[in-house]
Amino acid sequence: MSDPKNRLPMPQDETAVAPRRNFLKFGASGIAAVTLSHWIPPSAAEAASQAPEPATPATGHQRIRLEVNGQSHALDVPNNAVLLDVLRDRLQLTGSKKGCDHGQCGACTVLVNGVAINACLSIAVQHDGDTITTIEGLAENGQLHPVQQAFWDHDAYQCGYCTSGQIMSAVAILNDPNIPADDASVREAMSGNICRCGAYKNILAAVQSARGKVGRAS
Ligand code: FES
Ligand code: FES
Repeated sequence: MSDPKNRLPMPQDETAVAPRRNFLKFGASGIAAVTLSHWIPPSAAEAASQAPEPATPATGHQRIRLEVNGQSHALDVPNNAVLLDVLRDRLQLTGSKKGCDHGQCGACTVLVNGVAINACLSIAVQHDGDTITTIEGLAENGQLHPVQQAFWDHDAYQCGYCTSGQIMSAVAILNDPNIPADDASVREAMSGNICRCGAYKNILAAVQSARGKVGRAS
């Protein structure tokens, strides 16, 4: 847990909270991914995912198939392409953040076949045939996922940069029967997700409040 002295001052009432929430809703937070279609031109995302690939991959490329947020994609990617870059730059799924790019902050966390991984450390061609869930794939029918809702309800973010990674890790943890439910175990399990704003107390409260409301996300 961070030193409380290092935390930003918290707003005292809901009126003060509202502008920041609105920024997060329409800005860059993980929770905002549910509204992604409002601020990413649909044509850009569709063009990126639907552009036909050539008959054979170019030299130094491989064709991979990814099931991302329920959509199937066939993509030609460089042999050394990083999964995070493919998600962000090819599929326009920018909810997963690049923080440290070295596997140390957790901002890039996504689920691969239900397991949380750091997408910045993973080579895309290793995921041929895999099922991937990003923050954009959690909400259903316009409704926030229970963990997204819990982060919203508990104000479990400040700048929001770490939030999508925190939420994806929380979903994986709450789906893992091997991780005990006590606060210390949850803190330990979430320790790969760094929050520079020090919102850990509210993050923990959000994760615990979502316990029992989470179905499996792959
Ligand atoms: S960006 Fe992947 S762990 Fe920091
Ligand atoms: S909310 Fe700012 S880094 Fe976590």
